[in-house]
Amino acid sequence: MAETTLDLRELPRAEAYEELHVQTHAVLEGIHDDIAAMATISALIHHGFGHLWTGFYRVVEPGRLLRIGPYQGTLGCMEIEFGKGVCGTAAAEGRTVIVDDVAAFEGHITCDPRSRSEIVVPVYGQDGDLIAVLDIDADTPFAFSDVDREGLEKAVQWFRSAG
Ligand code: SME
Repeated sequence: MAETTLDLRELPRAEAYEELHVQTHAVLEGIHDDIAAMATISALIHHGFGHLWTGFYRVVEPGRLLRIGPYQGTLGCMEIEFGKGVCGTAAAEGRTVIVDDVAAFEGHITCDPRSRSEIVVPVYGQDGDLIAVLDIDADTPFAFSDVDREGLEKAVQWFRSAG
């Protein structure tokens, strides 16, 4: 059961995130490894929801620099400075950023031109420091809402409690 990658696209979003939560904790049971969790959570979200790009940018220089981590999708940008693009904005401000239309977001960093909207969620580690951001891109505008924000903020709580 835990090895199955769920298809959550037919479920109401809030219910889909509940399923994601159960599946994440089942697959990662006994695993205390942030990279393994980033890879697993990326795969579950990406295939479960059918997004364009799903992955993590890790904090490699606190307050300054993010670097690509585990992801699913086409080639991602290698590094993003704090304050740049949607990821850098979420990292610098420590808050989830939802962009309904990437064309209207000044400074958006285009890795895949098919991206039309995105959500970026800060990820905190066990000591409460920012360790990464979770970046999800969709090929349709207005793909993300507060339901996604709540579901994804709950998903990345895994890193706060480290499983
Ligand atoms: N769109 C992001 C860049 C990362 S790619 O989408 C994978 C941004 O502006 O932060």
